[in-house]
Amino acid sequence: MEQSVTTERSASLASETAEAASPRDKKVFVKTYGCQMNVYDSQRMADALAADGYRPTEMIEDADLVLLNTCHIREKAAEKVYSELGRIRVLKEERARHGRETVIGVAGCVAQAEGREILRRAPMVDLVIGPQTYHRLPAVVQRVRTGEKIVETDYAIEDKFEHLPAPERTSVRSRGVTAFLTVQEGCDKFCTFCVVPYTRGAEISRPVAQIVAEAERLAEAGVREVTLLGQNVNAWHGEGPGGSEWGLGRLLFRLAEIPGLDRLRYTTSHPRDMDDELIEAHRDLPELMPYLHLPVQAGSDRILKAMNRRHTVADYLRLIHRIRAARPDIAMSGDFIVGFPGETEEDFQETLRLVREVNYAQAFSFKYSPRPGTPGAEMENQVPEPVKDERLQRLQALLAEQQSGFAQSLVGAEIDLLLEKPGREPNQLVGRSPWLQPVIVDEKAGKIGDIVRVTITRAGSHSLFGETVRNVATLQATEEESV
Ligand code: SAH
Ligand code: SF4
Ligand code: F3S
Repeated sequence: MEQSVTTERSASLASETAEAASPRDKKVFVKTYGCQMNVYDSQRMADALAADGYRPTEMIEDADLVLLNTCHIREKAAEKVYSELGRIRVLKEERARHGRETVIGVAGCVAQAEGREILRRAPMVDLVIGPQTYHRLPAVVQRVRTGEKIVETDYAIEDKFEHLPAPERTSVRSRGVTAFLTVQEGCDKFCTFCVVPYTRGAEISRPVAQIVAEAERLAEAGVREVTLLGQNVNAWHGEGPGGSEWGLGRLLFRLAEIPGLDRLRYTTSHPRDMDDELIEAHRDLPELMPYLHLPVQAGSDRILKAMNRRHTVADYLRLIHRIRAARPDIAMSGDFIVGFPGETEEDFQETLRLVREVNYAQAFSFKYSPRPGTPGAEMENQVPEPVKDERLQRLQALLAEQQSGFAQSLVGAEIDLLLEKPGREPNQLVGRSPWLQPVIVDEKAGKIGDIVRVTITRAGSHSLFGETVRNVATLQATEEESV
């Protein structure tokens, strides 16, 4: 069986050898690990390379350029990259046997953290490029093709966003009706467990004009929902018109004015940066979806202090109280780390208590993973792996119960759904609820990009099921036409 697959692949390689001569026929395969910012960066990389004649491909064996956009957040994430590089080496050798060159690049946070070390561990890698320098990718790839090996992981002085080509309408369209838009990068908070301040560098905020122009382009290409991204998105403080400084709340009000942008989200937020204007945006802006990812990490003040989170449990609960007062239907999401150095059973019980008090609609939880170069990795009292395992299981059981409780509470409710893509069954479409849950409806509900009102009929384990009440988007269109 495997043999025949190899033969087919070899045949296709051989038949394309002649084509490969023209640089305009080059293909790039990008694999993305980690957070949404990496998803966004991968798209910008693909767009930058498209301007240079590289077309995206989903078939790694067809690619003249393979890019891994990597994540360094936990040990497992970083190690995945090296096992993938092992598989890619075999592919590169096979392509070489057919006279085809393959450039292999490592981008993202492993690239930034490990730099030249990657070339030592994986010598077939040709280029290593960091999150702040990937706008130079087309030039770097050209140099690599003349035989150089390149590591570009400086913190670029130039603003990459000024150098990247604007995404083409067609590529935005092909990515669907929702899009990410990075507004803030880097982090100055230095939580003691976290690599992000080292891999993504100091906090920077993109200026208002740049963000508005990008959002308008997305809307013109048919995007209806934009999620603003940043490692500390609510710390965004960008330059507004006339040199004034804006906060995220004000930016959201401005973006809501863009015709066609019906839904706005932002992630990930830090509890210390939720200011009054942002909470007012949740109160006053119907376009801002009632869902907030606000990681707390732990429920014990002692552990929060050791983590350098710079807020207490009481601060966090007070904040949630204010947000819920402003937007009563808001659903909370969070991140948790179990087994941070020194965490006792009592500390962990406090995390469970906090979770019960907040009642999360959704959450991510992880075992603490010591990361080289961070203060946490040097701390004594590391928690044994089996204890972390057991705590994670208990926490996840509670979070899963809350998540399904929230889903069940929506059965019978009427909600608005943005239709995003075809479902698994041929006659289905999948949309997202305001709270980010996938909702499955009949394809007759509308077309992709429509916002439809549905009644939730059933909550499954991963998605909800809905029946259409009406097509909100069509209604709007009809009203506009009759004016
Ligand atoms: N900027 C975001 C999250 C960044 S990383 C914030 O400040 O909340 C995403 C999540 O990964 C974190 O919220 C944290 O829960 C988890 N994480 C980060 N470092 C980790 C580590 N060393 N071990 C385990 N989980 C970690
Ligand atoms: Fe990491 Fe903390 Fe910065 Fe979030 S706030 S990116 S967890 S250092
Ligand atoms: Fe990972 Fe870097 Fe994002 S470490 S989580 S890809 S910022």
